[in-house]
Amino acid sequence: MANYDVIIIGSGPGGYVCAIRCAQLGLKTAVAEGRDTLGGTCLNVGCIPSKALLHASHMLHEAEHNFAAMGLKGKSPSVDWKQMLSYKDDTIGQNTKGIEFLFKKNKVDWLKGWGSIPAAGQVKVCDEVHQAKNIIIASGSEPSSLPGVEIDEKVVVTSTGALELGKVPKKMVVIGAGVIGLELGSVYARLGSEVTVVEFLDAVTPGMDAEIQKTFQRTLKKQGITFVMGAAVQKTEATKTKAKVHYKLRKDDSEHVIDADTVLVATGRKPFIDGLGLDALGIEMTKRGQIAVGADWQTNVQGIYAIGDVIEGPMLAHKAEDEGMAAAAQVAGKHGHLNYGVIPGVIYTHPEVANVGATEQQLKDDGRAYKVGKFSFMGNGRAKANFAGDGFVKILADKDTDRILGAHIIGPAAGDLIHEVCVAMEFGASAEDLAMTCHAHPTYSEAVREAALACGDGAIHA
Ligand code: FAD
Ligand code: NAI
Repeated sequence: MANYDVIIIGSGPGGYVCAIRCAQLGLKTAVAEGRDTLGGTCLNVGCIPSKALLHASHMLHEAEHNFAAMGLKGKSPSVDWKQMLSYKDDTIGQNTKGIEFLFKKNKVDWLKGWGSIPAAGQVKVCDEVHQAKNIIIASGSEPSSLPGVEIDEKVVVTSTGALELGKVPKKMVVIGAGVIGLELGSVYARLGSEVTVVEFLDAVTPGMDAEIQKTFQRTLKKQGITFVMGAAVQKTEATKTKAKVHYKLRKDDSEHVIDADTVLVATGRKPFIDGLGLDALGIEMTKRGQIAVGADWQTNVQGIYAIGDVIEGPMLAHKAEDEGMAAAAQVAGKHGHLNYGVIPGVIYTHPEVANVGATEQQLKDDGRAYKVGKFSFMGNGRAKANFAGDGFVKILADKDTDRILGAHIIGPAAGDLIHEVCVAMEFGASAEDLAMTCHAHPTYSEAVREAALACGDGAIHA
């Protein structure tokens, strides 16, 4: 048994970042983690492995589609799936070991095993009870499925199974056109699978700007992905090697079946709170099954905090990380801060999709007068040279004050470009502030500047 200032349950991006910050602020800190490696969903079965496969499959796409046009001739590479998986596993290993190193460097103790909270001020790991002045729950999330859909992680898989399939399937059906479905659907489509995405709603990536949704879906269709929209999946039937997906079209209730070698269920994730003992502690939950917290990330039980996927808000690694730093500040007696209005979202397909702030629909719903500045990557010299002219940057600004309210990008490096808009928004900048900032030529970032110019007197290269 040991006494700590703070014990964090879970070592995902919320938990490990929180632990390092707590230690930096002089608190005696430990993290309980039940997995064999640190880093949570993100490093083990989420952000990092999926980005490794997206990168590898994008390289194949470039070789197959663009190399010859640039005068790079020769045999196109073929896919060695085992090697691709081992590259992905190596990437995971480097990252998870990196967190172990950071824990040692910052003197954060790893309590190996699954933790529970028998009472406020105590964390039990493997029958040992540790005392903690503060407890931070960062236990993350797990995939949620559908009634009638049984996951076996072989034929009917969640994202976790989809990151380690035995082979590249001939036919893959993806249930859900959200972030996971489209990222992993893209990976397999590029590797040669026939991918069909079945989505309940009429648009992909719910909650995004409608114009981006349309362009994104059209672009993915051009890349060979088939979409069945407005379709409610009823059930799956699987054998050891194949599955059938039954769905009903919402417009006419007609029933349909598609065959697949692999079915990826990507219909959202839910907080993972099993075994923590929250009921007995009387911890309040939201209607959607998340841990309810106040503005200081504290639950209704004093000294117990929660951060990351287990609480409300977008299930994103960087949101969890920032909550981790803010909650650490709180328990150290400082003032933690996170601006929920400026959390970027990125989809790492090709082209990438990125957004921050309000969509046009949200501004309309709020009755806010706004203007739109748009610029196509077709007018960007660098994008044209790199076969990356598809897509656009769209900036939304207040009609009267010109203050930037949101930005939506589909195009090359969108996930990096969005951050200059985030910084601008944090400083309350106007579109003119962005437009008056000199941007290096030739860079993709000039497209952001041009969209800002389009909010005023006009873009130059439109
Ligand atoms: P998690 O990362 O889920 O970590 C929680 C940890 O707590 C786990 O390791 C778990 O083992 C441990 N734990 C749980 N209960 C206990 C217990 N009782 N005792 C001990 N340990 C416990 N987000 C992005 O921002 N960008 C991306 O590109 C991205 N890609 C993704 C791709 C996929 C396929 C998936 C599934 C998710 C992706 N996400 C991405 C989402 C991101 O992974 C999560 O938002 C993020 O990991 C949440 O962090 P967290 O710290 O709250 O929890
Ligand atoms: P999601 O919420 O993004 O998408 C789920 C989709 O499934 C929705 O479009 C929904 O309408 C659809 N759906 C639900 N029920 C259905 C049914 N019966 N039939 C057909 N479609 C149905 O969830 P997803 O993709 O599983 O991702 C989970 C979380 O992981 C997301 O919240 C996301 O933030 C995070 N993530 C983030 C990434 C990133 O930042 N790049 C990458 C991957 C995941």
